[in-house]
Amino acid sequence: MEKVLVTGGTGYIGSHTCLALIADGKQPIIIDNLCNSKPIVLDRIETISGKRPVFYEGDIRDRALLDRIFEEHQIQSVIHFAALKAVGESTQVPLRYYQNNIAGTLNLLEAMQAHGVKSFIFSSSATVYGDPASVPITEEFPRSATNPYGRSKLMIEEICEDQLKAENDWSITLLRYFNPVGAHESGTMGEDPSGIPNNLMPYIAQVAIGRRDALSVFGNDYPTADGTGVRDYIHVMDLAEGHVKALNVCSAKQGLHVYNLGTGQGYSVLEMVKAFSDAAARPIPYQIEPRRPGDIAEYWANPAKAERELDWKASRTLSQMTADSWRWQSQNPMGYEE
Ligand code: NAD
Ligand code: UFG
Repeated sequence: MEKVLVTGGTGYIGSHTCLALIADGKQPIIIDNLCNSKPIVLDRIETISGKRPVFYEGDIRDRALLDRIFEEHQIQSVIHFAALKAVGESTQVPLRYYQNNIAGTLNLLEAMQAHGVKSFIFSSSATVYGDPASVPITEEFPRSATNPYGRSKLMIEEICEDQLKAENDWSITLLRYFNPVGAHESGTMGEDPSGIPNNLMPYIAQVAIGRRDALSVFGNDYPTADGTGVRDYIHVMDLAEGHVKALNVCSAKQGLHVYNLGTGQGYSVLEMVKAFSDAAARPIPYQIEPRRPGDIAEYWANPAKAERELDWKASRTLSQMTADSWRWQSQNPMGYEE
């Protein structure tokens, strides 16, 4: 059975990707230091899939631990999710972000090199497109960064490119995610942000369940149809399946592979509020607040390259995203806490 090392595998996207890997007959081996996730996720993965991933609690910056994992398992590929991801926080503690995301990735790549593992899939982000000149965004658009989090993604993309120039028998895939939302359809796995959610969908979900009073809509004076920000929201299970497709197509192909993973469809903040309110059959109170610094008006993906080359296309609709998110939130009001 193909063994895949999944860093950050107990986190939001990583855990759903473990389900998709298991469904495809692969064995995920997880390393996670649990700085933003909980070990109960492993029970949920096992309940849904019937398989429990091998789990190493530890940090990707711990080289001795990585060496042990590569010695104990014949790893064929690495999918690298582990990172700190809060944009605002990254401007407050940039060194912590660079230490974790950059040093962690370098350590991981060096360990792969030492153990002859040459297939790498990296969680990049639409944030590497900065404020795009137009939409939809294709993979060739120029890259830029406006905050340390985004810069860490951009720098890692460049590190990967340099590594491939030096050792062209690696396969490196950069997956640029748009806005992942939703939850596994069972309602037993989903997104569980610690503290006050930064992102729209988990915030709306916590308003719907009564944990927060009202959503702040950050700006209604953008040059968009209803004045609120527009994003390309993608169901986390579609995203997870995109990783499996990328693994199957790219891991045996040397070189650099870059894909947008999005739906190609943008929705505004108010459209998201309406859709969630319909799914939860209750009003979502909100108030209009000033724009959030650093936000851009609108962007969405052109996902044609992934469809053409990976035979992958996001298939879940907005109402599935909101229904699954609500099922998770209503069955687990305090997330994985209970
Ligand atoms: P998450 O925080 O739920 O998952 C990340 C996991 O990595 C967590 O379980 C955390 O405990 C672990 N981790 C962090 N640093 C670690 C370290 N040094 N060693 C070991 N484990 C460590 O986040 P997510 O939403 O699942 O995101 C996964 C990846 O996708 C990240 O790289 C993120 O930057 C990227 N991404 C996320 C989004 C999004 O909106 N969620 C969008 C684009 C890209
Ligand atoms: N928004 C609100 N109120 C909130 C939260 C968000 O109105 O409480 C609005 C934002 O202004 C934006 C939209 O909802 O218009 C989406 O905001 P999110 O914070 O959910 O997502 P972003 O598009 O800002 O950023 C996300 C991730 C980044 C990643 C980026 C691209 O947080 O890490 O998608 O993948 F880089």
